[in-house]
Amino acid sequence: MKPLDAFCGSRVLITGGLGFLGSNLAIELVQGGAEVTLLDSLIPQFGGNFANIEPIADRATINISDMRGCPSLEILVRDKDFIFNLAGQVSHGDSMRDPQLDLGVNCVSTMNLVEACRKHNPSVRMLYTSTRQVYGKPKALPVTEDHVPEPIDVNGINKLAAEYYHLLYHRTYGVRSTVLRLTNTFGPRQKISSPRQGFAGVFIYQALRGEPISLYGGGRQLRDFNYVDDVIDAMLRAIVSPRCLGRFFNLGFHPPRSLVEFVETLQEFCRFEVRSVPFPEDSKIIDIGDYYGDFSRFQAATGWEPKIDLHEGLARSIAFFRRHKDAYGLGSANQHVLRGSYSSRSA
Ligand SMILES: NC(=O)c1ccc[n+]([C@@H]2O[C@H](COP(=O)([O-])OP(=O)(O)OC[C@H]3O[C@@H](n4cnc5c(N)ncnc54)[C@H](O)[C@@H]3O)[C@@H](O)[C@H]2O)c1
Repeated sequence: MKPLDAFCGSRVLITGGLGFLGSNLAIELVQGGAEVTLLDSLIPQFGGNFANIEPIADRATINISDMRGCPSLEILVRDKDFIFNLAGQVSHGDSMRDPQLDLGVNCVSTMNLVEACRKHNPSVRMLYTSTRQVYGKPKALPVTEDHVPEPIDVNGINKLAAEYYHLLYHRTYGVRSTVLRLTNTFGPRQKISSPRQGFAGVFIYQALRGEPISLYGGGRQLRDFNYVDDVIDAMLRAIVSPRCLGRFFNLGFHPPRSLVEFVETLQEFCRFEVRSVPFPEDSKIIDIGDYYGDFSRFQAATGWEPKIDLHEGLARSIAFFRRHKDAYGLGSANQHVLRGSYSSRSA
């Protein structure tokens, strides 16, 4: 059976459903025959965008609400078979500049959701997308799930707390949960015009516009980039697998690539200059250096392995954004979206 077959005819709630990952997941699920509800607050600086769900706009239910204070959560969770909790804020830099916002969207929202499930749908199956940032600076590579979490920014702390809410409610109340710790993910429907959504998207945006790309500290840092389709496949497998219940897992990709390699691969598709610049102080203090994860535990539990390498993933991303310029800030009206904003780029 393919992972998607398990969802045909099922009722699914996706929080953060208009964002990058939520919308790609929603499209897959609707096409697989699921009845999908998307909950999103459309907080302006985050990745929510109606254009993201254009292929399924008339086949999904959309609820615009903020999970930090959303009485309708109780109703929204009630009849669902699966809940993918993807609402959140992804910028490490922003979490330092506005820790209260990060606390609200990552922790309060998740607490409200798991409470609503405990009271109104305790047998639902849930998946939470956390981040490799919970580990902090790796003590050894590749990072396994046994690595002690020592987050070095507010976002890492709040994502870890949100993981624990899910796992606690699983253990204590039987609200069945799985946590995936995602690494740098890129692909269609990412908010590439905003430095808040990670450097991968920003680099794609700058490459498409023919603008110079600045690499901090020489760009030698290693990352294990995942293409979005592989991450969606991981989520679908995780939420139906009995072996994933009450557990957390790394995703990742082998071999890891440096930021220089990421940019050089982009140069196969677009013409632009590359500059090396010193690390801005506010990014340096929350930089984790090299990171790549060991995903063998998840592979053993589900059979998942990432299939789309950097070259293929960037080729698909570039083709997508060239087809959908206006929806992703690449039209001529948005020429200066990124000017002067390097320091708010997340890792
Ligand atoms: N994209 C990555 O590389 C990556 C890496 C690690 C973890 N993650 C996690 O995956 C999840 C999805 O990330 P994404 O890249 O799709 O981000 P995104 O910004 O594109 O999507 C997140 C969505 O959540 C919504 N949202 C935020 N707070 C909300 C609230 N209080 N109520 C309702 N909706 C709210 C936003 O409006 C947005 O549409 C996040 O939790 C993020 O921390 C992503």
